[in-house]
Amino acid sequence: MAEKFYVTTPIYYPNDIPHIGHAYTTLAADVLSRWNSLQGKEVFFLTGTDDHGKKIANTAKEKGLSPQEFTDKLVPKFKDAWKNLNIKYDRFIRTTDKDHEKIVGEVLQKCYDKGDIYKGEYEGLYCTGCEAYFTEKDLEDGKCPIHKKPVEKLKEETYFFKLSEYKDKLLDFYKKNPKFLSPKNRSKEIINRVSEGLNDLSISRASFDWGIPLPFDKEHVTYVWFDALFNYYSATRKKGKEKFWPADVHLIGKDISWFHTVYWPAFLISAGIELPKVVYSHGWWTFDKEKISKSRGKILHVDKLIKIAGVDSARYFLFREASFGEDGDFSEQALIDRHNNELANKLGNLISRVSSLAEKYGIEKVKDRPLDKKWKKVLEGGEATYEEMVGSIGSNDEGRVIRFLEIKHGGGSDALLLSYPQVLNEVTQYFVKKHMESFQIDKALATIFSFIDGCNEFIQLRKPWESSKKLEYRRYVLGEAVRAIREITTLLSPFIPETSEKISKIFKTDKIKKSPIIFKKIEVQ
Ligand code: MSP
Repeated sequence: MAEKFYVTTPIYYPNDIPHIGHAYTTLAADVLSRWNSLQGKEVFFLTGTDDHGKKIANTAKEKGLSPQEFTDKLVPKFKDAWKNLNIKYDRFIRTTDKDHEKIVGEVLQKCYDKGDIYKGEYEGLYCTGCEAYFTEKDLEDGKCPIHKKPVEKLKEETYFFKLSEYKDKLLDFYKKNPKFLSPKNRSKEIINRVSEGLNDLSISRASFDWGIPLPFDKEHVTYVWFDALFNYYSATRKKGKEKFWPADVHLIGKDISWFHTVYWPAFLISAGIELPKVVYSHGWWTFDKEKISKSRGKILHVDKLIKIAGVDSARYFLFREASFGEDGDFSEQALIDRHNNELANKLGNLISRVSSLAEKYGIEKVKDRPLDKKWKKVLEGGEATYEEMVGSIGSNDEGRVIRFLEIKHGGGSDALLLSYPQVLNEVTQYFVKKHMESFQIDKALATIFSFIDGCNEFIQLRKPWESSKKLEYRRYVLGEAVRAIREITTLLSPFIPETSEKISKIFKTDKIKKSPIIFKKIEVQ
Protein backbone atom coordinates (compact mmCIF):
# COMPACT_ATOMS: atom_id res chain seq x y z
CA MET A 1 0.00 0.00 0.00
CA ALA A 2 1.30 3.45 -0.89
CA GLU A 3 2.44 5.70 1.91
CA LYS A 4 -0.01 8.57 2.54
CA PHE A 5 0.58 12.29 2.76
CA TYR A 6 -2.02 14.72 4.05
CA VAL A 7 -1.41 18.46 3.71
CA THR A 8 -3.75 21.31 4.62
CA THR A 9 -3.94 25.09 4.30
CA PRO A 10 -5.79 27.36 6.70
CA ILE A 11 -9.37 27.79 5.66
CA TYR A 12 -9.67 31.42 4.65
CA TYR A 13 -12.32 33.92 5.70
CA PRO A 14 -14.29 34.54 2.54
CA ASN A 15 -14.90 38.19 3.34
CA ASP A 16 -12.82 39.55 0.47
CA ILE A 17 -11.02 38.26 -2.63
CA PRO A 18 -7.77 36.32 -2.03
CA HIS A 19 -4.42 38.08 -1.99
CA ILE A 20 -0.76 37.09 -2.03
CA GLY A 21 -0.84 35.94 1.62
CA HIS A 22 -3.59 33.40 0.95
CA ALA A 23 -1.94 32.38 -2.30
CA TYR A 24 1.38 31.73 -0.59
CA THR A 25 0.15 29.00 1.75
CA THR A 26 -2.07 27.42 -0.86
CA LEU A 27 0.79 27.32 -3.37
CA ALA A 28 3.11 25.83 -0.78
CA ALA A 29 0.56 23.09 -0.16
CA ASP A 30 0.29 22.53 -3.92
CA VAL A 31 4.07 22.23 -4.23
CA LEU A 32 4.21 19.72 -1.37
CA SER A 33 1.24 17.82 -2.70
CA ARG A 34 2.74 17.50 -6.18
CA TRP A 35 6.14 16.59 -4.77
CA ASN A 36 4.76 13.84 -2.56
CA SER A 37 2.70 12.44 -5.43
CA LEU A 38 5.92 12.27 -7.45
CA GLN A 39 7.40 10.23 -4.60
CA GLY A 40 4.64 7.70 -5.16
CA LYS A 41 2.63 8.66 -2.10
CA GLU A 42 -1.12 8.81 -1.94
CA VAL A 43 -1.82 12.46 -1.29
CA PHE A 44 -4.76 14.35 0.14
CA PHE A 45 -4.61 18.13 -0.17
CA LEU A 46 -7.30 20.10 1.63
CA THR A 47 -8.14 23.77 1.42
CA GLY A 48 -11.34 25.75 1.87
CA THR A 49 -13.11 28.60 3.62
CA ASP A 50 -14.02 29.56 7.15
CA ASP A 51 -17.58 30.72 6.60
CA HIS A 52 -18.92 31.22 10.13
CA GLY A 53 -18.27 33.80 12.82
CA LYS A 54 -18.92 37.39 13.71
CA LYS A 55 -16.53 38.85 11.18
CA ILE A 56 -18.34 37.26 8.24
CA ALA A 57 -21.74 38.04 9.76
CA ASN A 58 -20.77 41.72 10.11
CA THR A 59 -19.37 42.07 6.58
CA ALA A 60 -22.43 40.36 5.10
CA LYS A 61 -24.67 42.77 6.98
CA GLU A 62 -22.77 45.77 5.62
CA LYS A 63 -23.38 44.43 2.11
CA GLY A 64 -27.06 43.87 2.82
CA LEU A 65 -26.79 40.09 2.36
CA SER A 66 -27.32 37.09 4.58
CA PRO A 67 -24.03 35.46 5.63
CA GLN A 68 -24.87 32.43 3.49
CA GLU A 69 -25.58 34.56 0.42
CA PHE A 70 -22.47 36.61 1.02
CA THR A 71 -20.11 33.65 1.43
CA ASP A 72 -21.72 31.90 -1.56
CA LYS A 73 -20.67 34.91 -3.62
CA LEU A 74 -17.11 34.99 -2.31
CA VAL A 75 -16.21 31.30 -2.26
CA PRO A 76 -16.05 31.03 -6.09
CA LYS A 77 -13.45 33.82 -6.07
CA PHE A 78 -11.16 31.57 -4.04
CA LYS A 79 -11.81 28.59 -6.27
CA ASP A 80 -11.08 30.69 -9.37
CA ALA A 81 -7.87 32.07 -7.88
CA TRP A 82 -6.61 28.57 -7.10
CA LYS A 83 -7.51 27.38 -10.58
CA ASN A 84 -5.71 30.31 -12.16
CA LEU A 85 -2.61 29.57 -10.08
CA ASN A 86 -2.71 25.96 -11.27
CA ILE A 87 -3.36 24.66 -7.77
CA LYS A 88 -4.79 21.16 -7.66
CA TYR A 89 -6.45 20.48 -4.32
CA ASP A 90 -8.42 17.33 -3.54
CA ARG A 91 -11.21 18.93 -1.56
CA PHE A 92 -12.43 22.45 -1.00
CA ILE A 93 -14.18 22.38 2.35
CA ARG A 94 -16.53 25.03 3.74
CA THR A 95 -17.44 25.12 7.40
CA THR A 96 -21.05 25.33 6.25
CA ASP A 97 -20.74 21.87 4.63
CA LYS A 98 -23.15 19.48 6.30
CA ASP A 99 -20.58 16.71 6.94
CA HIS A 100 -18.33 19.19 8.74
CA GLU A 101 -21.15 20.61 10.86
CA LYS A 102 -22.08 17.11 11.95
CA ILE A 103 -18.51 16.26 13.04
CA VAL A 104 -18.17 19.50 14.99
CA GLY A 105 -21.36 18.63 16.90
CA GLU A 106 -20.01 15.18 17.66
CA VAL A 107 -16.64 16.32 18.97
CA LEU A 108 -18.21 19.04 21.08
CA GLN A 109 -20.42 16.42 22.67
CA LYS A 110 -17.37 14.24 23.36
CA CYS A 111 -15.48 17.07 25.05
CA TYR A 112 -18.61 17.95 27.01
CA ASP A 113 -19.18 14.37 28.14
CA LYS A 114 -15.59 14.22 29.24
CA GLY A 115 -16.20 17.18 31.53
CA ASP A 116 -13.94 19.56 29.62
CA ILE A 117 -16.71 22.07 28.84
CA TYR A 118 -18.62 24.06 31.44
CA LYS A 119 -20.98 27.04 31.50
CA GLY A 120 -19.83 30.39 32.83
CA GLU A 121 -19.56 34.05 32.00
CA TYR A 122 -16.91 35.62 29.85
CA GLU A 123 -15.92 39.14 30.62
CA GLY A 124 -13.08 40.48 28.57
CA LEU A 125 -11.82 41.69 25.24
CA TYR A 126 -12.39 40.43 21.71
CA CYS A 127 -11.02 41.38 18.29
CA THR A 128 -13.50 40.44 15.58
CA GLY A 129 -10.80 40.85 12.91
CA CYS A 130 -8.81 38.03 14.56
CA GLU A 131 -11.87 36.31 15.98
CA ALA A 132 -9.80 36.07 19.15
CA TYR A 133 -9.98 36.86 22.86
CA PHE A 134 -7.43 39.23 24.31
CA THR A 135 -6.21 40.35 27.70
CA GLU A 136 -5.07 43.92 28.43
CA LYS A 137 -1.43 42.89 28.28
CA ASP A 138 -1.81 41.48 24.73
CA LEU A 139 -2.81 44.90 23.39
CA GLU A 140 -0.59 47.56 21.86
CA ASP A 141 -1.70 51.12 22.73
CA GLY A 142 -5.01 49.62 23.77
CA LYS A 143 -5.53 48.18 20.28
CA CYS A 144 -5.35 44.76 18.63
CA PRO A 145 -1.66 44.22 17.77
CA ILE A 146 -2.55 42.66 14.39
CA HIS A 147 -5.39 44.86 13.17
CA LYS A 148 -4.36 48.02 15.02
CA LYS A 149 -8.05 48.58 15.77
CA PRO A 150 -9.88 48.96 19.07
CA VAL A 151 -11.09 45.71 20.59
CA GLU A 152 -14.62 45.01 21.81
CA LYS A 153 -15.53 44.54 25.49
CA LEU A 154 -17.61 41.42 25.94
CA LYS A 155 -19.65 40.35 28.92
CA GLU A 156 -21.81 37.35 28.16
CA GLU A 157 -22.80 33.89 29.13
CA THR A 158 -20.59 31.34 27.46
CA TYR A 159 -19.32 27.79 27.58
CA PHE A 160 -15.68 27.42 28.50
CA PHE A 161 -13.22 24.77 27.44
CA LYS A 162 -10.88 23.76 30.29
CA LEU A 163 -7.73 24.76 28.47
CA SER A 164 -6.00 25.46 31.79
CA GLU A 165 -5.87 21.72 32.40
CA TYR A 166 -3.89 21.08 29.23
CA LYS A 167 -0.69 22.91 30.03
CA ASP A 168 1.34 19.87 31.09
CA LYS A 169 -0.13 17.61 28.44
CA LEU A 170 0.81 20.10 25.75
CA LEU A 171 4.32 20.67 27.07
CA ASP A 172 4.83 16.95 27.25
CA PHE A 173 3.55 16.51 23.71
CA TYR A 174 5.90 19.22 22.33
CA LYS A 175 8.80 17.57 24.07
CA LYS A 176 8.06 14.15 22.65
CA ASN A 177 7.27 15.52 19.18
CA PRO A 178 9.81 18.23 18.51
CA LYS A 179 8.78 18.57 14.85
CA PHE A 180 5.22 19.48 15.75
CA LEU A 181 6.24 23.11 16.31
CA SER A 182 7.92 23.98 13.02
CA PRO A 183 10.11 25.69 12.02
CA LYS A 184 12.21 25.26 15.08
CA ASN A 185 12.88 28.93 15.67
CA ARG A 186 9.19 29.54 16.37
CA SER A 187 8.81 26.81 18.96
CA LYS A 188 10.40 28.60 21.90
CA GLU A 189 7.85 31.38 22.01
CA ILE A 190 4.95 28.94 22.12
CA ILE A 191 6.59 26.75 24.75
CA ASN A 192 7.34 29.78 26.93
CA ARG A 193 3.83 31.12 26.70
CA VAL A 194 2.26 27.75 27.47
CA SER A 195 4.64 27.29 30.41
CA GLU A 196 3.30 30.51 31.92
CA GLY A 197 -0.09 28.84 32.21
CA LEU A 198 -3.29 28.83 30.15
CA ASN A 199 -6.70 30.35 30.79
CA ASP A 200 -9.88 28.48 30.07
CA LEU A 201 -11.20 29.39 26.65
CA SER A 202 -14.64 30.67 25.76
CA ILE A 203 -15.89 28.40 22.97
CA SER A 204 -19.42 29.63 22.39
CA ARG A 205 -21.31 32.83 21.65
CA ALA A 206 -24.96 33.54 22.38
CA SER A 207 -25.22 37.12 21.05
CA PHE A 208 -25.43 36.12 17.35
CA ASP A 209 -26.41 32.98 15.50
CA TRP A 210 -24.09 32.58 12.49
CA GLY A 211 -22.39 29.35 13.51
CA ILE A 212 -22.88 25.74 14.50
CA PRO A 213 -25.26 25.38 17.48
CA LEU A 214 -23.83 23.59 20.52
CA PRO A 215 -25.40 20.13 20.68
CA PHE A 216 -26.03 20.53 24.41
CA ASP A 217 -27.35 24.11 24.28
CA LYS A 218 -28.91 25.35 21.06
CA GLU A 219 -28.97 28.96 22.29
CA HIS A 220 -25.22 29.10 21.70
CA VAL A 221 -23.19 28.86 18.52
CA THR A 222 -19.71 27.37 18.49
CA TYR A 223 -16.73 29.73 18.66
CA VAL A 224 -15.49 30.11 15.10
CA TRP A 225 -11.98 28.77 15.80
CA PHE A 226 -13.25 25.61 17.45
CA ASP A 227 -15.48 25.08 14.43
CA ALA A 228 -12.79 25.97 11.88
CA LEU A 229 -9.91 23.91 13.25
CA PHE A 230 -11.97 20.75 13.05
CA ASN A 231 -12.24 21.11 9.26
CA TYR A 232 -8.92 19.29 9.00
CA TYR A 233 -10.36 16.31 10.79
CA SER A 234 -13.88 16.29 9.39
CA ALA A 235 -12.57 16.12 5.81
CA THR A 236 -11.07 12.74 6.70
CA ARG A 237 -14.32 11.29 8.07
CA LYS A 238 -15.59 10.53 4.56
CA LYS A 239 -15.48 7.04 3.18
CA GLY A 240 -12.01 6.19 1.89
CA LYS A 241 -10.43 9.25 3.48
CA GLU A 242 -10.11 7.96 7.07
CA LYS A 243 -6.57 6.74 6.45
CA PHE A 244 -5.32 10.28 5.91
CA TRP A 245 -5.75 11.28 9.55
CA PRO A 246 -3.56 12.42 11.31
CA ALA A 247 -2.42 15.23 9.01
CA ASP A 248 1.22 15.12 8.00
CA VAL A 249 1.44 18.88 7.94
CA HIS A 250 -0.80 21.86 8.58
CA LEU A 251 0.68 24.82 6.70
CA ILE A 252 -0.23 28.15 8.27
CA GLY A 253 0.93 31.74 8.59
CA LYS A 254 2.82 32.67 11.73
CA ASP A 255 -0.04 34.86 13.04
CA ILE A 256 -2.26 31.84 13.61
CA SER A 257 0.21 29.46 15.19
CA TRP A 258 -1.22 29.88 18.72
CA PHE A 259 -4.61 28.58 17.58
CA HIS A 260 -2.99 25.63 15.77
CA THR A 261 -0.37 24.62 18.28
CA VAL A 262 -2.21 25.22 21.56
CA TYR A 263 -6.00 25.21 21.12
CA TRP A 264 -6.03 22.60 18.36
CA PRO A 265 -4.01 19.85 20.06
CA ALA A 266 -5.86 20.49 23.34
CA PHE A 267 -9.25 20.06 21.62
CA LEU A 268 -8.03 16.89 19.95
CA ILE A 269 -6.65 15.38 23.14
CA SER A 270 -9.95 16.14 24.83
CA ALA A 271 -11.93 14.48 22.03
CA GLY A 272 -9.58 11.47 22.08
CA ILE A 273 -8.27 12.04 18.56
CA GLU A 274 -4.72 11.46 17.39
CA LEU A 275 -2.66 14.63 16.94
CA PRO A 276 -1.27 15.97 13.64
CA LYS A 277 2.44 15.48 12.99
CA VAL A 278 3.60 18.98 12.06
CA VAL A 279 2.29 22.52 12.18
CA TYR A 280 4.53 24.59 9.95
CA SER A 281 4.24 28.38 10.32
CA HIS A 282 5.55 30.40 7.42
CA GLY A 283 6.47 34.07 7.42
CA TRP A 284 4.55 37.07 6.17
CA TRP A 285 4.85 38.97 2.91
CA THR A 286 5.12 42.70 2.97
CA PHE A 287 4.36 44.68 -0.16
CA ASP A 288 6.96 47.22 -1.24
CA LYS A 289 8.38 46.93 2.30
CA GLU A 290 5.04 47.80 3.93
CA LYS A 291 2.55 45.67 5.78
CA ILE A 292 -0.23 44.49 3.48
CA SER A 293 -3.15 46.85 3.88
CA LYS A 294 -6.20 47.18 1.75
CA SER A 295 -7.00 50.68 2.91
CA ARG A 296 -3.55 51.98 1.99
CA GLY A 297 -3.56 50.21 -1.37
CA LYS A 298 -0.67 48.00 -0.27
CA ILE A 299 -2.19 44.79 -1.45
CA LEU A 300 -1.62 42.33 -4.25
CA HIS A 301 -4.54 40.24 -5.35
CA VAL A 302 -4.02 36.97 -7.16
CA ASP A 303 -5.02 38.18 -10.66
CA LYS A 304 -2.47 40.99 -10.45
CA LEU A 305 0.22 38.62 -9.17
CA ILE A 306 -0.29 36.40 -12.21
CA LYS A 307 -0.37 39.29 -14.66
CA ILE A 308 3.14 40.53 -13.86
CA ALA A 309 5.11 37.66 -15.40
CA GLY A 310 2.78 34.67 -15.67
CA VAL A 311 1.69 31.93 -13.30
CA ASP A 312 4.89 29.93 -13.17
CA SER A 313 7.09 32.96 -12.61
CA ALA A 314 4.86 33.98 -9.70
CA ARG A 315 5.02 30.46 -8.26
CA TYR A 316 8.77 30.41 -8.70
CA PHE A 317 9.29 33.83 -7.17
CA LEU A 318 7.39 33.17 -3.96
CA PHE A 319 9.53 30.17 -3.06
CA ARG A 320 12.80 31.62 -4.30
CA GLU A 321 12.68 35.11 -2.87
CA ALA A 322 12.01 34.32 0.78
CA SER A 323 12.97 31.51 3.07
CA PHE A 324 9.75 29.60 3.78
CA GLY A 325 9.77 30.17 7.54
CA GLU A 326 10.78 33.83 7.30
CA ASP A 327 9.15 37.06 6.15
CA GLY A 328 9.63 38.27 2.60
CA ASP A 329 9.08 41.47 0.70
CA PHE A 330 7.19 41.48 -2.56
CA SER A 331 7.85 43.99 -5.27
CA GLU A 332 6.97 43.85 -8.92
CA GLN A 333 10.57 44.65 -9.85
CA ALA A 334 11.96 41.80 -7.77
CA LEU A 335 9.60 39.38 -9.51
CA ILE A 336 10.55 40.67 -12.94
CA ASP A 337 14.26 40.46 -12.07
CA ARG A 338 13.98 36.83 -11.04
CA HIS A 339 11.91 36.06 -14.12
CA ASN A 340 14.52 37.65 -16.39
CA ASN A 341 17.73 36.65 -14.64
CA GLU A 342 16.89 33.18 -13.46
CA LEU A 343 14.00 31.71 -15.40
CA ALA A 344 14.81 33.31 -18.76
CA ASN A 345 18.61 33.50 -18.49
CA LYS A 346 19.52 30.38 -16.56
CA LEU A 347 16.79 27.84 -17.20
CA GLY A 348 15.67 29.33 -20.52
CA ASN A 349 19.20 29.49 -21.89
CA LEU A 350 20.00 25.95 -20.91
CA ILE A 351 16.88 24.70 -22.68
CA SER A 352 17.36 26.70 -25.85
CA ARG A 353 21.10 26.08 -26.13
CA VAL A 354 20.95 22.34 -25.54
CA SER A 355 17.89 21.82 -27.72
CA SER A 356 19.36 23.69 -30.66
CA LEU A 357 22.73 21.93 -30.41
CA ALA A 358 20.96 18.60 -30.03
CA GLU A 359 18.94 19.29 -33.15
CA LYS A 360 22.15 20.07 -35.01
CA TYR A 361 24.38 17.22 -33.83
CA GLY A 362 22.11 14.63 -32.28
CA ILE A 363 22.67 13.10 -28.84
CA GLU A 364 24.19 9.95 -27.50
CA LYS A 365 21.80 7.95 -25.38
CA VAL A 366 23.14 7.96 -21.86
CA LYS A 367 23.12 4.63 -20.11
CA ASP A 368 21.74 4.33 -16.63
CA ARG A 369 24.55 4.33 -14.12
CA PRO A 370 23.42 3.82 -10.58
CA LEU A 371 25.16 5.74 -7.86
CA ASP A 372 28.34 4.23 -6.55
CA LYS A 373 27.89 2.60 -3.12
CA LYS A 374 30.54 4.71 -1.50
CA TRP A 375 28.78 7.89 -2.61
CA LYS A 376 25.47 6.68 -1.37
CA LYS A 377 26.97 6.19 2.04
CA VAL A 378 28.42 9.69 2.09
CA LEU A 379 25.11 11.24 1.07
CA GLU A 380 22.97 9.21 3.37
CA GLY A 381 25.30 9.73 6.28
CA GLY A 382 24.57 13.45 5.86
CA GLU A 383 28.26 14.12 6.30
CA ALA A 384 28.64 16.82 3.73
CA THR A 385 26.49 19.79 2.82
CA TYR A 386 25.44 20.56 -0.70
CA GLU A 387 27.71 23.58 -0.78
CA GLU A 388 30.63 21.51 0.39
CA MET A 389 30.01 18.92 -2.23
CA VAL A 390 29.14 21.06 -5.17
CA GLY A 391 28.91 24.79 -4.57
CA SER A 392 32.34 25.53 -3.28
CA ILE A 393 33.94 23.17 -5.73
CA GLY A 394 33.31 25.66 -8.44
CA SER A 395 31.43 23.00 -10.32
CA ASN A 396 33.43 23.03 -13.51
CA ASP A 397 35.75 20.15 -12.95
CA GLU A 398 34.46 16.62 -12.62
CA GLY A 399 37.66 15.45 -11.06
CA ARG A 400 37.48 17.94 -8.23
CA VAL A 401 34.12 16.72 -7.02
CA ILE A 402 35.36 13.19 -7.00
CA ARG A 403 38.60 14.12 -5.32
CA PHE A 404 36.76 16.05 -2.64
CA LEU A 405 34.85 12.98 -1.63
CA GLU A 406 37.94 10.84 -1.73
CA ILE A 407 39.88 13.19 0.46
CA LYS A 408 37.08 13.67 2.91
CA HIS A 409 36.17 10.05 3.17
CA GLY A 410 39.49 8.38 2.58
CA GLY A 411 38.23 6.49 -0.44
CA GLY A 412 40.68 4.60 -2.56
CA SER A 413 40.94 5.00 -6.24
CA ASP A 414 37.82 3.10 -7.27
CA ALA A 415 36.93 4.51 -10.59
CA LEU A 416 33.89 6.69 -10.36
CA LEU A 417 31.93 6.21 -13.51
CA LEU A 418 29.75 9.26 -13.17
CA SER A 419 30.01 12.33 -15.32
CA TYR A 420 29.83 15.79 -13.81
CA PRO A 421 26.12 16.35 -14.61
CA GLN A 422 25.31 13.03 -13.08
CA VAL A 423 27.28 13.76 -9.96
CA LEU A 424 25.32 17.00 -9.68
CA ASN A 425 22.12 15.18 -10.32
CA GLU A 426 22.68 12.60 -7.61
CA VAL A 427 23.67 15.21 -5.08
CA THR A 428 20.74 17.41 -6.06
CA GLN A 429 18.21 14.58 -5.82
CA TYR A 430 19.41 13.81 -2.35
CA PHE A 431 19.29 17.36 -1.06
CA VAL A 432 16.00 18.30 -2.70
CA LYS A 433 14.36 15.30 -1.06
CA LYS A 434 15.85 16.16 2.28
CA HIS A 435 14.67 19.78 2.08
CA MET A 436 11.19 18.89 0.87
CA GLU A 437 10.78 16.40 3.68
CA SER A 438 11.57 19.11 6.20
CA PHE A 439 9.36 21.64 4.36
CA GLN A 440 12.29 23.87 3.39
CA ILE A 441 10.72 24.51 0.04
CA ASP A 442 12.92 27.47 -0.78
CA LYS A 443 16.09 25.48 -0.16
CA ALA A 444 14.88 22.71 -2.43
CA LEU A 445 14.30 25.20 -5.22
CA ALA A 446 17.69 26.84 -4.67
CA THR A 447 19.34 23.42 -4.93
CA ILE A 448 17.62 22.72 -8.25
CA PHE A 449 18.90 26.03 -9.55
CA SER A 450 22.46 25.18 -8.52
CA PHE A 451 22.06 22.08 -10.66
CA ILE A 452 20.93 24.30 -13.55
CA ASP A 453 23.98 26.53 -13.04
CA GLY A 454 26.18 23.45 -13.01
CA CYS A 455 24.71 22.25 -16.29
CA ASN A 456 25.21 25.63 -17.95
CA GLU A 457 28.83 25.58 -16.80
CA PHE A 458 29.28 22.04 -18.05
CA ILE A 459 28.15 23.03 -21.55
CA GLN A 460 30.23 26.18 -21.45
CA LEU A 461 33.30 24.22 -20.46
CA ARG A 462 32.87 21.30 -22.85
CA LYS A 463 31.98 23.59 -25.78
CA PRO A 464 30.33 21.00 -28.01
CA TRP A 465 29.97 23.59 -30.79
CA GLU A 466 33.72 23.99 -31.37
CA SER A 467 34.91 22.77 -34.72
CA SER A 468 37.82 20.89 -33.17
CA LYS A 469 35.42 18.57 -31.33
CA LYS A 470 34.57 15.17 -32.75
CA LEU A 471 30.92 14.38 -33.45
CA GLU A 472 31.04 11.53 -30.97
CA TYR A 473 32.22 13.86 -28.24
CA ARG A 474 29.58 16.49 -29.01
CA ARG A 475 26.89 13.82 -28.80
CA TYR A 476 28.24 12.55 -25.52
CA VAL A 477 28.19 16.03 -23.98
CA LEU A 478 24.70 16.75 -25.31
CA GLY A 479 23.44 13.38 -24.16
CA GLU A 480 24.59 14.15 -20.65
CA ALA A 481 22.98 17.58 -20.77
CA VAL A 482 19.68 16.24 -22.07
CA ARG A 483 19.56 13.64 -19.37
CA ALA A 484 20.22 16.31 -16.76
CA ILE A 485 17.47 18.53 -18.20
CA ARG A 486 15.00 15.66 -17.96
CA GLU A 487 15.84 15.25 -14.28
CA ILE A 488 15.62 19.01 -13.69
CA THR A 489 12.22 19.08 -15.35
CA THR A 490 10.88 16.46 -12.98
CA LEU A 491 12.32 18.23 -9.96
CA LEU A 492 10.84 21.54 -11.07
CA SER A 493 7.42 20.14 -11.88
CA PRO A 494 5.90 20.75 -8.42
CA PHE A 495 7.04 24.39 -8.59
CA ILE A 496 6.39 25.34 -12.21
CA PRO A 497 4.11 22.59 -13.50
CA GLU A 498 3.02 24.16 -16.77
CA THR A 499 6.52 25.06 -17.91
CA SER A 500 7.91 21.71 -16.81
CA GLU A 501 5.38 20.03 -19.02
CA LYS A 502 6.42 22.17 -21.99
CA ILE A 503 10.10 21.41 -21.43
CA SER A 504 9.43 17.76 -20.91
CA LYS A 505 7.70 17.53 -24.30
CA ILE A 506 10.77 18.96 -26.02
CA PHE A 507 13.25 16.59 -24.39
CA LYS A 508 11.11 13.49 -24.20
CA THR A 509 12.39 12.04 -27.47
CA ASP A 510 15.94 11.36 -28.64
CA LYS A 511 15.27 13.37 -31.80
CA ILE A 512 15.25 16.75 -30.21
CA LYS A 513 14.13 19.89 -32.00
CA LYS A 514 15.09 23.43 -31.12
CA SER A 515 12.77 24.72 -28.44
CA PRO A 516 10.68 27.86 -28.81
CA ILE A 517 11.40 30.55 -26.20
CA ILE A 518 10.06 29.33 -22.86
CA PHE A 519 10.42 32.50 -20.81
CA LYS A 520 10.20 35.78 -22.71
CA LYS A 521 12.18 38.50 -21.03
CA ILE A 522 10.12 41.32 -19.65
CA GLU A 523 11.27 44.80 -20.60
CA VAL A 524 10.32 47.45 -18.10
CA GLN A 525 9.71 50.86 -19.59
N1 MSP B 1 -9.92 31.63 9.06
C1 MSP B 1 -8.67 31.71 9.71
C2 MSP B 1 -7.91 30.41 9.59
C3 MSP B 1 -8.61 29.22 10.15
S1 MSP B 1 -7.70 27.77 9.91
C4 MSP B 1 -8.50 26.62 10.79
C5 MSP B 1 -7.83 32.83 9.09
N2 MSP B 1 -8.16 33.22 7.87
S2 MSP B 1 -7.51 34.43 7.06
O1 MSP B 1 -8.19 34.48 5.81
O2 MSP B 1 -7.54 35.62 7.83
O3 MSP B 1 -5.99 34.17 6.89
C6 MSP B 1 -5.48 33.00 6.45
C7 MSP B 1 -4.00 32.95 6.25
O4 MSP B 1 -3.49 33.97 5.43
C8 MSP B 1 -3.20 32.96 7.53
O5 MSP B 1 -2.37 31.80 7.55
C9 MSP B 1 -2.34 34.18 7.40
O6 MSP B 1 -1.08 33.99 7.97
C10 MSP B 1 -2.23 34.32 5.92
N3 MSP B 1 -1.82 35.66 5.56
C11 MSP B 1 -2.58 36.80 5.62
N4 MSP B 1 -1.77 37.84 5.25
C12 MSP B 1 -0.52 37.39 4.98
C13 MSP B 1 0.65 37.97 4.48
N5 MSP B 1 0.76 39.25 4.27
N6 MSP B 1 1.70 37.14 4.18
C14 MSP B 1 1.60 35.78 4.32
N7 MSP B 1 0.51 35.21 4.79
C15 MSP B 1 -0.51 36.00 5.28
O7 MSP B 1 -6.92 33.30 9.73
